[in-house]
This record gives sequence, C-alpha cells and structure tokens, in this order.
Amino acid sequence: MSQHPSDAPAAASRGVLTTANGNPVDNNQTSMTAGEYGPVVLQDFHLIDKLAHFDRERIPERVVHAKGAGAHGYFEVTKDISHLTCAQFLSRVGKRTPVFTRFSTVGGEQGSADTARDPRGFSVKFYTEEGNWDMVGNNTPVFFIRDPIKFPDFIHTQKRHPQTHLPDATMMWDFWSLVPESLHQVTILMSDRGIPDGYRHMHGYSSHSLKLVAKDGSYKYVKWHFRTEQGIKNVLPDEAARLAGTDPNYATRDLFNAIERGEHPAWRVYVQVIEPEQALKYRFNPFDVTKVVSQKDFPLHEVGRMVLNRNPENYFAEVEQAAFCPSHMVPGIAPSPDRMLQGRLFSYADTHRHRLGANYHQIPINRPLSGVNNHQRDGAMAINGNGGAAPNYEPNSFGGPAQNGLPAQTHARNFVAQGEVTRHTYDVTDDDFAQAGDLFNLFSEEQKTRLATVIAGSLSQTPVFIQKRQLKHFYRADKDYGRRVEAALRAADSKI
Ligand code: HEM
Repeated sequence: MSQHPSDAPAAASRGVLTTANGNPVDNNQTSMTAGEYGPVVLQDFHLIDKLAHFDRERIPERVVHAKGAGAHGYFEVTKDISHLTCAQFLSRVGKRTPVFTRFSTVGGEQGSADTARDPRGFSVKFYTEEGNWDMVGNNTPVFFIRDPIKFPDFIHTQKRHPQTHLPDATMMWDFWSLVPESLHQVTILMSDRGIPDGYRHMHGYSSHSLKLVAKDGSYKYVKWHFRTEQGIKNVLPDEAARLAGTDPNYATRDLFNAIERGEHPAWRVYVQVIEPEQALKYRFNPFDVTKVVSQKDFPLHEVGRMVLNRNPENYFAEVEQAAFCPSHMVPGIAPSPDRMLQGRLFSYADTHRHRLGANYHQIPINRPLSGVNNHQRDGAMAINGNGGAAPNYEPNSFGGPAQNGLPAQTHARNFVAQGEVTRHTYDVTDDDFAQAGDLFNLFSEEQKTRLATVIAGSLSQTPVFIQKRQLKHFYRADKDYGRRVEAALRAADSKI
C-alpha cells in the first residue's frame, strides 16, 4: 500500500541547504568541535538552531479529537436554497466552494488507534467569498450531554484516570449513569455504529440546529446532514481490536490511499428545516442535542454535494494546524439557542489561541481566501504584514476598512430572547430515554445481542452500584434492552 503519492522520497528542490535565516550550510553531518576529540562548541549555530527547532516540533495536541486525517475538496450546490439564506456560497445551483475536511476520533491521543469505539469528528471548512464557514460536526446526530458546563467533566471521564493513567470504565459509567440524557449517544456508541470502517463510510451531522437567514432577515432552524455516497460500513469489535494492534492508522491510510487512487469520497448534503414557530411548539426542546428531530416531521432537503479530491501536501501544515470553530459563520448562517452550541461558540477560538497562538487565522490552512481586513495587530507570529502603515484603529480619518453598513438582518430579524437570567435546569423525563429505546428497536437480533455484550464487557468492570444505576436506564429505554444487558452482565460474571 502506498505511503506516499510517488512511493519515492518527496521530490524537493535540490538547492543548497540553508539555516533558517538563509545562510548556506557547509556541513550537515558533522558538528563543530574544539579539536578532533574535543567538545562541541556553542558557536555551531547550525547545530544549535537545528536542535532547538527540533526541541519545539510538537505543539499541544487538540484537547479532544487529537487523532485525525484531512483532505481538500469542494462543495457544489445541487438544489436552490437561496430563498432560505443569503449566504453567497449557497446562492445558485452549480456554484462550487473549496473545502478542507478533517475527520477524527475523540478521546484518544495523537498516536491512538483509528478503530477505537468513539464518535468520529466531521469538520468542514468552507472557504467562501464571505470568509470561512466551519461546520464542526460529528458522525452522530446527537451528543452525550446538553449543557456545555458539563463538557470538561464528561471529557475527563473519557480520558485517562488521574492516578493510574489508564482509560477507566468506572469513570465513564459513573458519569453516564448520573447523566442519563447520555443514553441515546451511549446506545449509538456501544452499537455497531460505534466503530465506523474508516472515515469514508460514515455520515456527518451538524447535530445542533443552526439558523439559515434570508435576505429579508427571516430565518429558519436547520440541521445539516452529510450522507456518505460510499455507503455506511462499520467494523465489528474483534476486527477493530485486531486492527488497533496491526494497523492503528487504518482510517488515516484508507482516506489517503483512496484519494491517491482517484476514488474521491463524496457526501450528499441535506438540511432539515424547522420553522421558528414549530421549534417553540415541538414536543420536546428541539435545541437539546441529546435528541434527534424526526425526519418524518422534518424531512431532508438536498442542498449540495461535497467531494474530497486532494490530499494534503504536508500533514502538520494542513491537518494539524487546521483550526475549526463553530463560531466561524458567514452572513446567512447564524447560531441557534442550543446551549451546547453556544458554549462551543466560545471554546474553539479560545483553544486555538492556546494551541496555535493569537494569530492562528493567519496560518495558510485557516486563512480565508476572501481576505481579512481589520484592525487586529501584533501578537506572536504576525506574518501577514501586520497592516503595514495603515491606521490600526477605527473610526479614523485616514482610510482603512469600515463596516459595510448593511442592516443586521443576516443575524435574523425578530429573534427575541427574554426571560429570567438564572440557571434553567432540564428535568430528566421519559423523553430522555425514548429515542435510545427506539434506536434499540431498529437493530437486528444479532445487533441487539452484540450491543448488550459490548455494554456488559465494559460495564461489568465497574462497581456493582454503578451497574445497577445504569441498568435502570436501559430498562427505562426499553424492557428488552434492559433484560438483554442484565443477562449479558450476568454472563460476564457481574455480581449484579
Ligand atoms: C474539537 C470543545 C462539543 C465536534 C474540539 C476542541 C475543543 C472542543 C476545545 C479542540 C479544538 C482544537 O484544538 O482545534 C467542545 C466543547 C463542547 C464540544 C466545549 C461542548 C460544549 C462538541 C460537539 C461536537 C463536537 C457537540 C459535534 C457535534 C468537534 C470536532 C472537533 C472538536 C469535530 C475536531 C475539530 C477538528 O477536526 O480540528 N471540541 N466540543 N464537539 N469538537 Fe468539540
């Protein structure tokens, strides 16, 4: 299997080797020493600079979604939705917009196995003529929690134990059993859908609702769906475990090689459209990301097609430094009140400033093709000319960029928020279990058995009181679901 497009060392230019400041290097194999047997001298700048740069090669990995693969491609509008949004890149059928997409696992570190049982990240950066829109979704339409205040705690349970430094089933099930709205996503995770066969054979979802805003300021809520044209394929647990040992980069390799072979993966893109009045009247809070809104109530409308047709030239430059952010939106796309989304609007740009620096948006992979024109200046690694001699404040009397003066309609007219500012809690209700039960009932006999076995394999490693607490949730979702997990726990020697 090919590792590199040409199966040969990259054909770099054969010019003279230089230091980072451009001085020609006379010898790249021998350090400068005081005498043949003497110590290395500090004046060997080439050696010192080479080691010092190497010492700094690693940047902090993403706090979540650290392991990933990415590719370039395009998005093409296939159906007119210009009545729903004034976003220019969606303005006419046939219009193409360049994209960069990154897929990832969530919990593991950069070197972790691609076949982990984990949701998969599905991020798309659209380089539009009005700046970038980042669709930062997952391969699942729901999430484990519905309030961003729980996210750091949740992620701690998915990472390593503070003492043993091991993944820890007790932390996971303790949290999930105490946060039962997680059951829907837990059911997806523990089912066959929990281990997609690479990145090409899975759907992508915005999961949250966003707003689409028309020219006149009217808006609708939409959920984005990217449906794989390659078909859904999953890996069964034994094969996933084998691959984790023999080919931990299975999904990364599969994506890269498919694109090199000219098999360009593609996704059909749809939206579910929800009128604001329907959202207010819906039978549960449609902004609760632990639930799907039914496609019977809100069918899919085709919008376009995404094709990935070009591999990155350099992994670090393009994939590792890619900075996706749900708050990067273009006019005509706006956030919904989904609390989780609202938390994410802050968190991503914040982590990018930490991971890549205050000028992360100047890195080529993140730079909007349409240009940036503002009064932000300075900071580490300001590499875009830093505004030259132009004024660095506004308003000013000496030229420079100014606001476009258009009405704020692209933010949605008549979107009114009011009410007491307090911590409005969600009560746990039967609705929090119903969709997990419905999903369970979609599975075949074989899939149900496998689901119960996978759950029991992990849950049986936890204290009995946690097993009992979680078991009640399975029963509440569906009696048969509960019975099967209970039987599988007993078969796994649980003392339940
Ligand atoms: C990555 C925070 C929920 C999808 C990240 C990163 C942070 C983060 C800090 C690392 C970004 C980076 O270093 O570049 C949060 C918070 C959440 C949340 C605070 C909840 C309040 C979600 C949800 C989804 C999601 C619900 C999917 C619908 C992703 C994806 C990435 C990511 C796909 C990887 C982006 C990439 O490819 O670089 N998240 N996240 N996250 N998150 Fe979230």
